[in-house]
Amino acid sequence: MPEAASEYANEVDWINNFITNVSVFCIVAITLAMLYFAVRYRRKDDGRKTPYITHSVALETVWTVIPTIVVIYVFYIGLVSYQKTRDIPANALEINVLAYSWAWQFTHPNGKKAGDELVVPVNKDIRLVMKAKQDDVLHSFFVPALRIKEDVRPDDYSYTGFKANKEGTYRIFCAEYCGLNHSQMLNSLRVVSQEEYDDYLLDRTDGPALTPVQVGKKQFATSGCVQCHSLEGKAGIGPSLNGLFGKERVFEDGTKLIVDENYLRESILYPKKKVVKGFAPVMNPFEGLVTEEQLEGLIAYIKSVK
Ligand code: CUA
Repeated sequence: MPEAASEYANEVDWINNFITNVSVFCIVAITLAMLYFAVRYRRKDDGRKTPYITHSVALETVWTVIPTIVVIYVFYIGLVSYQKTRDIPANALEINVLAYSWAWQFTHPNGKKAGDELVVPVNKDIRLVMKAKQDDVLHSFFVPALRIKEDVRPDDYSYTGFKANKEGTYRIFCAEYCGLNHSQMLNSLRVVSQEEYDDYLLDRTDGPALTPVQVGKKQFATSGCVQCHSLEGKAGIGPSLNGLFGKERVFEDGTKLIVDENYLRESILYPKKKVVKGFAPVMNPFEGLVTEEQLEGLIAYIKSVK
């Protein structure tokens, strides 16, 4: 296995070793038994008749129950472990990942953009909010040292989380064959100390840029969102956007969901798809009217309004 740079990676390795060991044990035991039986019970002369054995309840119970328990155990530890890449703590550092043919772009909370490497602080929960450019193709974010791999799609956000526990530089791959220069989507993950990360954020040679929240605030005003959506909690023509993220929404058709990036994105681009209970479907779709960066900004801004 490649070098492990997180606790999660160690868990994945443990499960992998467990499955391998169980498989090796079974194949060795079965092969030895088979060879032993072939010699022990071979037909020694023409007169011998093979005894007719129908079944053995005890034996069949044992070889059904034990493998079932082993398989359920493997499923259970796999599920519990995988869940850790889904249940990312709320205080995690959020970094946006944009994939396109054929490169990655990482946007840090202060707006710093980097395409050469992903720099993260050590021993800190990281949440990656990932998307491929609109009309691009499917990519897949893969860091072998962290044992994480997650598809990055052009139509909605996907997430993954990790907590690197070892400083160093690791490989990032695109794990989905995405066209001619797929192999160029090689990149580095650099895990550094918190101080080094803070310094890294201050280095703005990428050019002065607004933070995603500032981009969103500007766009919110430009697009006139505030005419219908209050930020203070009072409903207008549209529902208030105050403290919306992570809350439950109820729709006209009675369905519900917890507000996440994908819901916000859909509601901006195609507002009539889900209409909040008690409101009229009057908002105009913003499909084609906002860039990927403006959309990302709007979502970051709405998340910040509490
Ligand atoms: Cu992107 Cu392969």
